[in-house]
Amino acid sequence: MRLLIIGSGAIGTTLSEAIQGMEEIDIFYITDKNEDRAKRIAKECRKAKFISHTDESVKAHLKNVDLVVEAASQEAVQHYVPIVLGRGVDVLVMSVGAFADDETRERCFNVARRRGGRLYVPSGAICGTDGLHSASADVIDSVELTSTKGPKSFQDVPYLMSKGVDVNDLKERTVLFEGPAREAVAHFPKNINVSATISLIGIGLDKTKVKLVCDPRCDCNTHRLEVRGVFGHIVCETDNLPFPSNPATSYLAALSAISAIKRIASNVWIGI
Ligand SMILES: NC(=O)c1ccc[n+]([C@@H]2O[C@H](COP(=O)([O-])OP(=O)(O)OC[C@H]3O[C@@H](n4cnc5c(N)ncnc54)[C@H](O)[C@@H]3O)[C@@H](O)[C@H]2O)c1
Repeated sequence: MRLLIIGSGAIGTTLSEAIQGMEEIDIFYITDKNEDRAKRIAKECRKAKFISHTDESVKAHLKNVDLVVEAASQEAVQHYVPIVLGRGVDVLVMSVGAFADDETRERCFNVARRRGGRLYVPSGAICGTDGLHSASADVIDSVELTSTKGPKSFQDVPYLMSKGVDVNDLKERTVLFEGPAREAVAHFPKNINVSATISLIGIGLDKTKVKLVCDPRCDCNTHRLEVRGVFGHIVCETDNLPFPSNPATSYLAALSAISAIKRIASNVWIGI
């Protein structure tokens, strides 16, 4: 199997290192708008080959790959995903927050439906998506997500500034937002991926309830998912450690990309 990885930041680097030990993958191409980063990975990883991030270069290499991995940004999803799927190539998307935008989501999903390339979104930084998937085969009454993070995750948020909230002054755990996922992703664009993932699997952006909590005493990144439905009740809590190189990203998100690629490459899927 051959991959093309777009993005060589925290997730792209971890994935590149993991691929060295994955016998399912012969070689992978890597690109980034910051070319030096991608070149560094190509130098350090035996299976990696650097390619330029121009459209011509990416399109030319799509002929030689089985799967594209987006580990870059929402902007990269908007730009590359329709191009990749439009050529019938599968794509795994990490910046799932891009699909909170109705137009982007419909455009990408429609190309996948029409042109046959598969679009994969890993569970990322949250656990419990498996149960939520199963529950969605019948009626779900409610989905609630409570995300608790330290002040670093809530710096320079225009919504908080407009309310006169400075998270650096907080002395105790404080609820910063409570409401539908659609509003949460609009007001807190840097905290968008997990809300988007569970909304897409479950009952959508308008019915999924999100609570964002700032805890001044921690650098944590904790997600509590609570689902009620015909099946019963799920409570699932994920207490993430961040990447030292990028405190905004949980290590589990990179691991979810690695394990998704292993499943895609395999004929045996357990716990699908
Ligand atoms: N699904 C989840 O739960 C989850 C969790 C964490 C992170 N993420 C998302 O995954 C993505 C990658 O995370 P990360 O921590 O590796 O980020 P990062 O900032 O460490 O690295 C991103 C890299 O992508 C490059 N890049 C950005 N836009 C690009 C473009 N249009 N074309 C080419 N290269 C581009 C940047 O130069 C950078 O090197 C982010 O969008 C992040 O929000 C998702």
